[in-house]
Amino acid sequence: MQIFMETGPLQAYLGQQKKKQSSVGLVPTMGALHEGHISLINASRKANAVTVCSIFVNPTQFNNPSDLEKYPRTPERDFELLREAGCDAVFCPEVQTMYPHPSQLSIAFGQLDKILEGEFRPGHFSGVGLVVSKLFNIVQPDNAYFGQKDFQQAAVIQRMVADLNFPVKIIVAPTLRERDGLAMSSRNKFLDAEQRAQAVILFHALQAAAAAVKKKSISTGQLKADLKKFITAAPLARLDYVEFFDPETLEPVAHVKPGAQMALAVFFGKTRLIDNAQL
Ligand code: PAJ
Repeated sequence: MQIFMETGPLQAYLGQQKKKQSSVGLVPTMGALHEGHISLINASRKANAVTVCSIFVNPTQFNNPSDLEKYPRTPERDFELLREAGCDAVFCPEVQTMYPHPSQLSIAFGQLDKILEGEFRPGHFSGVGLVVSKLFNIVQPDNAYFGQKDFQQAAVIQRMVADLNFPVKIIVAPTLRERDGLAMSSRNKFLDAEQRAQAVILFHALQAAAAAVKKKSISTGQLKADLKKFITAAPLARLDYVEFFDPETLEPVAHVKPGAQMALAVFFGKTRLIDNAQL
């Protein structure tokens, strides 16, 4: 596995690969890798001759400087996991390399970045769009892999690729979960044992909602109220939001039926967990 910190050597390497007509898959990450990330590497390896994983804790997508500082950084372990997974190349640039001067550019996604995570983290999706655009231009992948875990991020990227004609195909891969159903996340490390045990409530709430709408369509207000009770039965859980909307347009729905998208965010102490599913 080759490790690159600079764009020039990475592009020289990829140029050689592309001469052989090899297709290139890109998996953008911020490191602190877990099996969820590795499932994206596996998906890329199946479909591409060359898989590149980027590891970059992107400052422009953090609206809280202490979150940026606290973000777990485990490069040696990440390299080991990527080597084991058969990843071909890692791109792990310094901030200076990605942002040689403070970027003034921002990307607005309209309604898409005002709701859900966008409402909680203003400017977040602009930063994601910016860094992913830069990575697409540097790597020029044929395929790029994103997790359904961050479905709003995947939606924003798909819109950006369509609107700006990026010649890349976006593949959205299913959420990998722990045995009890908790979605894998680098933030799970911040949970203490009690919080960790209760964190499965997000997954159970998705299941409870799916079961409820299977029987009959329910008004969004009613289902939200029921789920609020359900979630706060876990004493350490503090519900931030639970929302229901159309999976394509992300428009909120007044009645929840099978096929609707559900997303929720729940705090355990200072740790904020998200999950989502199509019901
Ligand atoms: P990061 O949080 O490191 O996630 C990298 C990719 O892994 C994302 O596409 C995310 O959706 C996916 N992922 C995370 N947990 C997963 C799980 N349990 N199962 C499957 N996939 C999972 O998302 C980012 O980084 C950044 O915003 C980035 C796109 C790299 C831009 O900086």
